[in-house]
Amino acid sequence: MNETIQLLNNRKSLRAYADRTIDRETVDLIINGAMRAPTAGNMMLYTILEVTGKADKEKLVKTCDNQPFIAEAPLVLIFLADMQRWQDYYVYSGVPDLCRQNNQDYVDLQESDLLLACCDALIAAQNAVITAESLGIGSCYIGDIMENIETHRAMFNLPRHVFPITMLCFGYYKESYLSQKPRSRFQQKFIHFQDTYKQLNHSEFKEMYADLENTSEGSYLEPAENYGQHMYLRKTGASFSGEMRRSVKTIFNEWLGK
Ligand SMILES: Cc1cc2nc3c(=O)[nH]c(=O)nc-3n(C[C@H](O)[C@H](O)[C@H](O)COP(=O)(O)O)c2cc1C
Repeated sequence: MNETIQLLNNRKSLRAYADRTIDRETVDLIINGAMRAPTAGNMMLYTILEVTGKADKEKLVKTCDNQPFIAEAPLVLIFLADMQRWQDYYVYSGVPDLCRQNNQDYVDLQESDLLLACCDALIAAQNAVITAESLGIGSCYIGDIMENIETHRAMFNLPRHVFPITMLCFGYYKESYLSQKPRSRFQQKFIHFQDTYKQLNHSEFKEMYADLENTSEGSYLEPAENYGQHMYLRKTGASFSGEMRRSVKTIFNEWLGK
C-alpha cells in the first residue's frame, strides 16, 4: 500500500489535541491544500474563514451543540459555500445591463447554485483534512455549524449568498491517539453497487448492522429497544437535528429570496 492509501486508512476524527500550536506556515499549507481541490468551473465557490479569537471559539461551542473541544482547537476553519463573490463580480462587470440589452433574464440564484457551492466547499474541506493529516495534524468536522444561522451571520458578517456548510477543528495528534484503531465502516457490498441501485431488505439490514447491534446492545438511549431506534433518538430525531432543519430552511429561503 502506498503512503496516501495508508494515510486514508489510518485517519480518525480527532477531538483532543497535543499541547502544541500550529504555526502560520503550516496553516497556510493546509489552506493551500484546500484551494488545490477540484472546483466547479474553477470558480472556487467557497470562502475559508479562519476563526482566531478565543471568545468566538467559545461561542461556537454553544452554537454548535455544546461541543467543548471546539474552543481547544488550535485551528478552526469554517467552509462557506459562497456565491456572493461571483454575484457581486457579475454586478461590477455590468452583467445585469448586458442581460437587459440582450433581452435575457438576469437569473436569481437557485437551489442548484447553493448545492454546487456546497459541493465546492466540502471538497475543499476534505482536501484540508488530508493535507493536515499528512502533516501529523488531526481534524474533526462540525456539521452543527449549519445551526443557528442568525447568530453565525452576525458573528462573521455573512451576506445572503454565503452559507456555512461545514467547520473543521484541527490540532496535532496526541502520541497516545496515533496508535488508536480507526473506526469501522459498513461492508463495501452495502455501500457500493454496480450499474443499478439496490434497496436493502430486512435480512440484508440484519447483516449490515450486525456488528453495531452486537457491540452497542444494552447501551441504548431510553426508551429505544434496538440500534435503529437508538440512532434515531441520538441523531435524526434529536433536538440538534431539529435546530439544523430550522436553520437550513431559513438559509434556503433567504438564498431564494422568499
Ligand atoms: C458532515 C460531518 C459532520 C460531522 N459533525 C460532527 C460534529 O458536529 N461533532 C463531532 O464530534 N464529529 C462530527 N463529525 C465526525 C464524525 O462523527 C466522524 O467522521 C464519524 O464518527 C466517523 O469517525 P472517523 O472520522 O474517526 O472515521 C462529522 C463528520 C462529518 C463528515
